[in-house]
Amino acid sequence: MRRPWFLLSVAGTAALLGGQLAFTGSATAVAAPPAARPSAAPAYPADSLRALAAKTGLRIGTAVNADELGTNEKYTRITAEQFSSVTAENVMKWSEVEAVRGTYTWEKADQLVAFAKKNRQLVRGHTLLWHNQLPAWLSTDGYTTTLSDDEVKAVLKKHVFAQMRHFKGDIWQWDVVNEAFDDNGQPRQTIWYKAWGGTGYIADVFRWAHQADPKALLFYNDYNLEFTGPKSNAVYELVKTLKAQRVPIHGVGFQGHLSTQYGYPDLQNNLERFAALGQKVALTEVDVRTFTKPDAVNTPVNELASYAQESYWSRSLKACLAVRACISFTPWGFGDTYSWVPGWFDDPQEGAALIYDEQLEPKSQYFVLQQDLALAAGAPRR
Ligand code: XIL
Repeated sequence: MRRPWFLLSVAGTAALLGGQLAFTGSATAVAAPPAARPSAAPAYPADSLRALAAKTGLRIGTAVNADELGTNEKYTRITAEQFSSVTAENVMKWSEVEAVRGTYTWEKADQLVAFAKKNRQLVRGHTLLWHNQLPAWLSTDGYTTTLSDDEVKAVLKKHVFAQMRHFKGDIWQWDVVNEAFDDNGQPRQTIWYKAWGGTGYIADVFRWAHQADPKALLFYNDYNLEFTGPKSNAVYELVKTLKAQRVPIHGVGFQGHLSTQYGYPDLQNNLERFAALGQKVALTEVDVRTFTKPDAVNTPVNELASYAQESYWSRSLKACLAVRACISFTPWGFGDTYSWVPGWFDDPQEGAALIYDEQLEPKSQYFVLQQDLALAAGAPRR
């Protein structure tokens, strides 16, 4: 029985590093089942993130910028080689698919689905219902609309069925409801909340989505669930209630937009408690931003920042690896040039949040993930 080089090295490294390993004890590494040899002529390198993650069954994803895919050769190659799951960063959002009421535009999203099939990747659908990036005919701010409550209900139902049916069978996980709670754990008073007179829209949307594509895994997705607190607690209660009502919800997405200015969250604890409700969990939009220069938005002001970033990346990946219900780990893009962070967090400026630099060369953050995956021989297989 031949073992890949990294399993061999794990046994030695575990002895050297002892408690520093996520999955302690060299015994776990040695006892790991033989890794399946990649099938003939893999289209991606054996040391790619996707190949290394396949040993535990974890999918490594990325958000994809539709303008770069297919036009930027280097960007396209990395997307195919490194990742086993893709998420549309924008092109499946409502404002993109139905900018004009009643006229659907699926082309860009369809291209991503075709790319994924060609490259043996799974697709995360993002997102059916959100208060942002709505078409202007419906709402410009997510909280007000010129439509009546009944019209709002009708257009949401139509939207969910149209989108779920269009992609039926092509989507692994759907972010059905995105960011329905604020940071205090209060339901956002969106146009949906107002039309339904409460959070009842959430159960309806999950039921419709399941009816339209019964095989898709349906997720609630939000940020800051990584930290135990009012928001994470509110979503926990929501999931419990939905389960009690037999609503088809299958997973909870932890966006994972982290910043070195805050402490590292008790992520694993939160993954575990949602998993204990019978949910799949996933890291869906990970990035780790830090303070950067206003005129060089991806250059940290503190040259030690990358060490903190490496640590956050590593710990969040290990938290996911340690929880069997955690089925995918998705950075929100891979190249700093295309990250949403510098444009959204600019007072003070933050950036440098991803794992490839502005030239699309891997950063130390990439190598940390690669190493953690290579050392994850003892992680539960999912
Ligand atoms: C962001 C995209 O990355 C940007 O390109 C876009 O301008 C705004 O939205 N939470 C989400 C994602 O669920 O859809 C957001 O994506 C980032 C925050």
